Amino acid sequence: MKKEFFKYQAQTSPHPLALEISHANGNYVYATNGKEYLDFIAGVSANTLGHNHPKISQAIKDQVDKYTHVMVYGEFIQQPQIDLTKLLAENLPKPLETVYLTNSGTEATEGAIKLAKRYTHRSEIIAAKNGYHGNTQGAMSVCGAEQQNSAFRPLIPGIRFIEFNNVIDIGKITIATAGVILETIQGGAGFIEPTHNYLKKVKDKCDEVGALLILDEIQSGIGRTGKLFGFENYNVIPHIIVAGKGLGGGMPIGAFISSHEIMSCLKQQPKLGHITTFGGHPVIAAAANATLLELLNSNLIEDTLQKEELIRKLLVHPLITEIRGKGLMLAAIVETDEIASKVILNCIDKGLLLFWLLFEGKAIRITPPLTISEEEIFKGCNLIIEVLNDILAEY
Ligand SMILES: Cc1ncc(COP(=O)(O)O)c(C=O)c1O
Repeated sequence: MKKEFFKYQAQTSPHPLALEISHANGNYVYATNGKEYLDFIAGVSANTLGHNHPKISQAIKDQVDKYTHVMVYGEFIQQPQIDLTKLLAENLPKPLETVYLTNSGTEATEGAIKLAKRYTHRSEIIAAKNGYHGNTQGAMSVCGAEQQNSAFRPLIPGIRFIEFNNVIDIGKITIATAGVILETIQGGAGFIEPTHNYLKKVKDKCDEVGALLILDEIQSGIGRTGKLFGFENYNVIPHIIVAGKGLGGGMPIGAFISSHEIMSCLKQQPKLGHITTFGGHPVIAAAANATLLELLNSNLIEDTLQKEELIRKLLVHPLITEIRGKGLMLAAIVETDEIASKVILNCIDKGLLLFWLLFEGKAIRITPPLTISEEEIFKGCNLIIEVLNDILAEY
């Protein structure tokens, strides 16, 4: 397949990993050459329950047999959409009770930004430096990495950037601000947690000036950080959340969620304020519903914290300067970008899938499926230490 992959598929980087996939099951991915890979990345935090989870597969098959696409989002009443939106609303704090389903995370970001502008009748959006919210033009406009954005300017106007965790910068949120969009835990920047009640302080400022706080839960959500949504760890309830990735259990989905009052403004003046053909697709909604049900009816969410503890205990090495993140959204930070790349590539060579973070070259991503077992954590972490020892011996 490799020759055809490079010939026919648009490439996103000069050096893709280009693993030829045969199949995947549980916490393992298998290559066409028969090699087995323990998965410590979960499709970049998307495969919440690992690969080919029987309940997700069954839900997909059952729904395919009933109906697939029947109508654009928001017109017909479809059971999988009802089940999913109700389950989300029932497991979120009030007033986060109304769900708009989209096809991807970036599209959910788009919807959330539009919603903040429409609700407040303002246009300024404040976002964080090194934040990541998606790659369409609106979402890219609120990504705070100019090295990525500059080639695509002009993007949407009226965006101001603040520093994540910088309390003084909160003063830049004013009565001109429609919304503030932040990741609950900054992902691409290096898995940086909010400190000193930062998110609550931002929310309070938003309330004071009439702006909306949008928290991007696309990576920190769906059980990965010990709660269903990451913000539940940080003493804050935002006005809007954006979800995606792990919500689909391996299928493409996004959602933005707010109060009934705020969300209602998208239906009038103008009507059809945000529309999508395939958002809320019944097969995808059925998969997401099965994923959520399995998560909520198991100990997998609480267990992420014990698994985090185990990983932190095992990943102690002179070349590791820090482990960042929470639950199973972790990054091992090493001394140089070069060491991080060596660890990632050598581990993949030895049968462990690891990956980079977008903007922090010294980070090694550790975001396994929530179904990862203790035994598999030992196996993966021991391999990382073995590879680090080899690198240390070379220096
Ligand atoms: C925090 C965050 N927001 C938004 C996105 C974009 O989601 P998608 O790739 O589904 O468009 C991602 C994807 O990596 C993400 O991690």
